[in-house]
Amino acid sequence: MNITVIGTGYVGLVTAACLAEVGHHVCGIDCDQHKLDKLAEGIMPIHEPGLEAIVCRNMQAGHLSFTSDYAAGVASAEVVFLAVGTPPDEDGSADLSHVLAAAKETARYVQRDCLLVTKSTVPVGTGEKVEAVVAEVLASRGGSLCIHVASNPEFLREGQAVNDFLKPDRIIVGIEHAGDAAIFRRLYAPFNRNRDRLVLMDRKSAEITKYAANAMLATRISFMNEIGRLCDRVGADVEAVRIGLGSDPRIGPHFLYAGVGYGGSCFPKDVKALRATGLEYGEPLQVIDAVHEVNEQQRLRFARQVRDSLAACERPRVALWGLAFKPGTDDMREAPSRLLVDTLLQQGVSIRAYDPAAMDVCRAIWPDQPGIEFMHSPESCLPGADALVVVTEWLCFREPDWPEVERLMPGRILFDGRNLYDPELMRQRGWQHYCIGRGRPYPET
Ligand SMILES: NC(=O)c1ccc[n+]([C@@H]2O[C@H](COP(=O)([O-])OP(=O)(O)OC[C@H]3O[C@@H](n4cnc5c(N)ncnc54)[C@H](O)[C@@H]3O)[C@@H](O)[C@H]2O)c1
Repeated sequence: MNITVIGTGYVGLVTAACLAEVGHHVCGIDCDQHKLDKLAEGIMPIHEPGLEAIVCRNMQAGHLSFTSDYAAGVASAEVVFLAVGTPPDEDGSADLSHVLAAAKETARYVQRDCLLVTKSTVPVGTGEKVEAVVAEVLASRGGSLCIHVASNPEFLREGQAVNDFLKPDRIIVGIEHAGDAAIFRRLYAPFNRNRDRLVLMDRKSAEITKYAANAMLATRISFMNEIGRLCDRVGADVEAVRIGLGSDPRIGPHFLYAGVGYGGSCFPKDVKALRATGLEYGEPLQVIDAVHEVNEQQRLRFARQVRDSLAACERPRVALWGLAFKPGTDDMREAPSRLLVDTLLQQGVSIRAYDPAAMDVCRAIWPDQPGIEFMHSPESCLPGADALVVVTEWLCFREPDWPEVERLMPGRILFDGRNLYDPELMRQRGWQHYCIGRGRPYPET
């Protein structure tokens, strides 16, 4: 099939590449020329394992191309995906300006009947807004072109996006015209060989399904962070609780890790947008409010506690391991490390930081910022450090060579924001080891 994907970010580029990989002819459109120039050279604009090989292979095979020119990019498309960003507006609601602009351009330049599919995460009712914009442009063009609007929210996880797209658990599809189901069946047939993963529903339900899924996962994280605080108070171990809780098949083991709070480009924004939708429709969502509030407190609390633990040091220095919001990605959007770094810098703490993927993104966030140095390895952060702070659970931080760490850094304070290390072992080694919900309260602030 001829497919166009508008937006070549984390979702759009993976979608375009994976659809090309199974034989569709795909054109990716983006308004960011710098990104397109990089892609033309075979340089990936994002860090996503496995993506580069698929993109390069399919560009060479002529299955995948990129352009900033809508007229050329959408002319012959049978299916057009909208995969542009939906960042939060000031009130937390999703900013739909990119989605509506891309829909408008599609309607302006498409030359055949097509299906316009929203893959971006958009609030309930957006399908109707897109339909209205499209109808207006088509009416001004005259003629008899027909564009149906469908919803097909994306569930890929950054860091595992290629695999998630090629082997989806489910493909949620919201349609308003029964005949559009056949188009989705053809489109996704290569991903559906061993069982049918399409879950068909109406468009509004599909739009809500995406927010409900992210809000549910965020709820589990905030819930465990709250249980972790209680564990700290009473001297219990949230890790034991997690294992006990997750062994119940009705609950399951996923997303039950206490930590420094959720971040990234999706959970914070989608929780806020769902909240705003509830308010807009006169149905305040109290659980969602609490999920957001607990997360804000968790991030703030961690940052303040690291800062306060260093108050007695004359020229405090921190070694920071991990900056990306989770392992496997260079995405720094709403990463908990950002608040931590800003809080420590404000307090005059010097930071040496390392992340396996996010160094370039971080240099752009804190350009020439005095007080923070970006290092080339975990070890190079350690000399002179009073405290080691671990924020992202990359594999390379999980089993440090402790004698070597102790040789390199004078301090023995460890803030373990992901509960990576055994508290008993660290105690025996003489560390003040602060983890999350493991029975050792943080120093009170
Ligand atoms: N990142 C994820 O893990 C993830 C997962 C599921 C869903 N989503 C949703 O998918 C959407 C895209 O997210 P992302 O992380 O890929 O965003 P992104 O910021 O990485 O990419 C968006 C791209 O769209 C381009 N763009 C913006 N307006 C445009 C326009 N009018 N025409 C052409 N290109 C335009 C931008 O230049 C950018 O390259 C969001 O709604 C997000 O919530 C993201």
